[in-house]
Amino acid sequence: MRLVRAGGLLLLSAATFAHDAISTNLTWTREVSRIVYHRCAACHRPGGAAMSLLNYEDARPWAKAIRDEVLARRMPPWDAVKGVGDFRDDQSLAQPEMDVLVGWVEGGAPEGNPIYLPNVPPAEHTKPPAHRGGMTLRGSMTLDRPAILTAIQPEGPVELAALLPDQSVERLIWVREFHPKWKRAYDLRQPLHLPRGTRLLLYCSACTGSVKATVFTTPLR
Ligand code: HEC
Repeated sequence: MRLVRAGGLLLLSAATFAHDAISTNLTWTREVSRIVYHRCAACHRPGGAAMSLLNYEDARPWAKAIRDEVLARRMPPWDAVKGVGDFRDDQSLAQPEMDVLVGWVEGGAPEGNPIYLPNVPPAEHTKPPAHRGGMTLRGSMTLDRPAILTAIQPEGPVELAALLPDQSVERLIWVREFHPKWKRAYDLRQPLHLPRGTRLLLYCSACTGSVKATVFTTPLR
């Protein structure tokens, strides 16, 4: 009787082990920590906006959630489509980075050899620039004086473009899927000079009602 019980227990633990079997060469210490430090640690750290993912012990219990959030592009929170506009603090993942995170989780999320671990990134002390004022844009608007565009805050799934007086078009931002929860201002990496007569055009194909965006500019000195 005892023997049978012990056998049952053995089988159970073997099954648990098989479930967590490692089938990937990707490891936390070599590949995954580097991506997490670069793309996630600004928020996912002790005292940050969300739970810490700074070390393996913190991150391992979240492995499946990390895969799901990343695949659904909910994390990092970043609604602007890549390739339209160039923004500061762009933490969105490139496809190869997503592949590494997902492959690591599906392969059993192994830790790896600690000699590969990179240094923990320092906490950022730079506060995001304060956004004051700003013009609310619905539809289109023509600038009656020159301005320097510094940031855009979409309030829905919008596309914003500038039609310059020479008739050239500058695409400014495209938010294909808007998450109200992550509503934020996007800071242009290079502030953009908009001459007088520029038309700002706001589009929203998926909107039923009217949609708006806030446009932050600094006056020309
Ligand atoms: C700009 C800040 C920020 C960045 C960057 C960020 N996160 Fe998050 N994350 C959050 C916040 C805030 C929450 C809590 C969300 C909530 O309360 O719903 C969260 C929640 C999560 C969750 C938990 C979701 C759940 O199941 O509840 C996971 C997993 C996650 N993030 C993974 C990541 C990964 C992986 C990265 C990097 C690739 C990342 N996050 C980058 C802010 C961020």
